[in-house]
Amino acid sequence: MIIAIDGPSASGKSTTAKLVAKKLNFLHIDTGAMYRAVTLYFLDHKVSLKNPTQIQHSLDNIDLKLSTDGKLFLNGRDVSETIRENPVTNFVSQVSSISAVRDRMVDLQRKLSRNHNVVMEGRDIGTRVFPDADYKIFIVADVDIRSKRRYLEMREKGVKISYESILKDLIERDRIDSTREHSPLKKADDAIVIDTTRLTIEEQVEKIIDIVQGNH
Ligand code: DC
Repeated sequence: MIIAIDGPSASGKSTTAKLVAKKLNFLHIDTGAMYRAVTLYFLDHKVSLKNPTQIQHSLDNIDLKLSTDGKLFLNGRDVSETIRENPVTNFVSQVSSISAVRDRMVDLQRKLSRNHNVVMEGRDIGTRVFPDADYKIFIVADVDIRSKRRYLEMREKGVKISYESILKDLIERDRIDSTREHSPLKKADDAIVIDTTRLTIEEQVEKIIDIVQGNH
């Protein structure tokens, strides 16, 4: 069974997807983390986004593995923390808009899901990766509440950043993610929309479990 969860940055997608997967005992695949790992590789190897040969060569050299406890390994190195840091966050929208990168990641996402029950989250899971997913959820939330959540999360981690700069960054990422040429962030026609602006994480999880169990 495939449960596809799509939605914009900081909508509560990841936390929700992780908890839904845990409750149902499904595999959780965070595709944003995969694009982030590719971005980290591109930064580390100074890959030029204007050089298709270099991009192709880099993609051939990238090996991504997910551990059962949710860690992501890039060529054997645990990058779970590094991919959340600023250099990657600031560059990932550009890298993930390259079609060669997307094609490679979509192949890998399908491969990783083979023979598993999966909760997969991202931007194009219900529209492109699994257009026949058993359940499609599209999570939305007001941009100011998303900025507030991200701000509190960063503060908890001890990162010094202003609310205004987070808001500005989210607006810009929303714009890039939804207007890019290849697989933009877009609700699938048959997706169920959940607006999390006024929901707690527990309520979001419960809603999805209800949908999957046919209780809604
Ligand atoms: O969910 P996130 O913030 O970790 O995602 C990081 C970036 O990856 C985001 O800018 C959009 C992109 N992304 C994508 O293009 N397609 C996906 N399926 C998942 C993420």
